[in-house]
Amino acid sequence: MTISRRTLMVTSLGATAASFVGGRAAYGASWHGPQPRLLASDLTSPAAFTVDLPFPPVLKAISAEPGVDRYALEVRSSRLEILPGFQTTVWGYDGLFPGPTFETRECQPISLTLRNELPVPIAHHLHGAHTLPESDGYPTDLILPAAFNGHVHADRRAVTSQVSRVYQYPNDQRPSMLWYHDHRMDFTGPQVWRGLAGMYLTRNDEELNSPLPLGDFELPLHICDRSFERNGNFKYPSLDPELKEKMGVEHSFMGGVLGDVVLVNGAPWPRFTAAQTLYRLRLLNASNARWYELQFQTNGQLLPFTQIGTDGGLLRSPVRKDSILLTPGERADIVVDFSTLPLGSTAALTNRRAQGRMSQIMRFDISHQSKPSGTIPAFLSDIRPLERTGVSRIRDFHFSYHSRAGWLINNRPFDPERIDADPAFGSTELWRISSDAEHPVHLHGVHFQVANSGWHGHHQAEVSWKDTVALRARQRVELLIPFTASRGRYVFHYHNLEDEDMAMMANFEVI
Ligand code: C2O
Ligand code: CU
Repeated sequence: MTISRRTLMVTSLGATAASFVGGRAAYGASWHGPQPRLLASDLTSPAAFTVDLPFPPVLKAISAEPGVDRYALEVRSSRLEILPGFQTTVWGYDGLFPGPTFETRECQPISLTLRNELPVPIAHHLHGAHTLPESDGYPTDLILPAAFNGHVHADRRAVTSQVSRVYQYPNDQRPSMLWYHDHRMDFTGPQVWRGLAGMYLTRNDEELNSPLPLGDFELPLHICDRSFERNGNFKYPSLDPELKEKMGVEHSFMGGVLGDVVLVNGAPWPRFTAAQTLYRLRLLNASNARWYELQFQTNGQLLPFTQIGTDGGLLRSPVRKDSILLTPGERADIVVDFSTLPLGSTAALTNRRAQGRMSQIMRFDISHQSKPSGTIPAFLSDIRPLERTGVSRIRDFHFSYHSRAGWLINNRPFDPERIDADPAFGSTELWRISSDAEHPVHLHGVHFQVANSGWHGHHQAEVSWKDTVALRARQRVELLIPFTASRGRYVFHYHNLEDEDMAMMANFEVI
């Protein structure tokens, strides 16, 4: 009997899915390459649930001219109290960590003038946005400091600027929560770790007029992990602490750096005083390498919640869940209902993929009554599932690790000047992406639909738009990708920032 390739593929996918049924599988069960590694802090971390959940300020436009709202941000170093009683040197947008939150409207373009006051180059990327390539923050499109003679990756197509640069965001992708972060070639991991990340919301009338909780009942949550030095500064295993010459991390951390303190909106294991009603949570995993499988626990029991959206905006209809997987770069839009919890009770947001303190994220203290904050409509938004029949081309990309050559895509390390795929503008392609290791994969400048049924527990009915997708070890996902946003050169990569810095990246150019 002969077994066709297709049968083999289906069988191995089935086996992969089955081995994760327990949901607690460790990083890459059958994988022997580098794995994310815990970096221990040099100080005793604070007690959980003692700091109130902060919210980054909403950034105000400096002017609203017809057709465009203008914003400005300065990237600089500052000292912030992150752990009670300690000062941390942060590299932040306007000196904040996370940076200010953008509140924007669908199809209302904005321009952002970014000034770099750091001693190193930056590249500024709006993750999840449709932009022209010159505003995407391509890793070599650097904003150099006034004076710099350190490492700059060679790329003849790079367009660098000095001290400041203007980015244009048309906001014509589906309304959702995006996030912005540094994308400097070879140094993204350490620069994001030092604080260069923030949230960016786009809304439209349909959503604002819906009965979903809003205002005080909608909480953007920027979740990440960090480690700290004895003096309260962030600890990170860079080979060059100045981030000027030598890229990369100490060898043992090349699979990713995991912190041992959870920060939500920049506060360690915070608490939030909640009303007995519904809350909409805009979740972002802004960690370099840590995966979260989020759950709510109250009184020793799981509290189910409702997912209403993904990276690319609202789902068609709400989905009840007990837990949700959020890998680095991914966002989820959920509604949790505290109306049945007694006053004085608590609900903990926990991470099922970690033990001990790292299994805790934050706590909601149910402290007062309120009028109902909203409801979840049965129909959320219009999503048409993409059909395979409309696909003009199939491409395969395999992400792998080789002990000599490092992280490779289709056996090649990143080269900014090599184009690895050239989809035609307006076409839809099917990309089959597989990986040796367990990693999220992210594409710039587009959104896609995952076409495999049974992709980590998602039902086929749950059609959603994504820009980042989690791959299990030895799993293959099929992505239906319409290249309709813009022509030009964009990157796709592992959204594990340490691996991305080690060249786990490739180019596509929409032509
Ligand atoms: Cu979150 Cu290349 O980006
Ligand atoms: Cu991105």
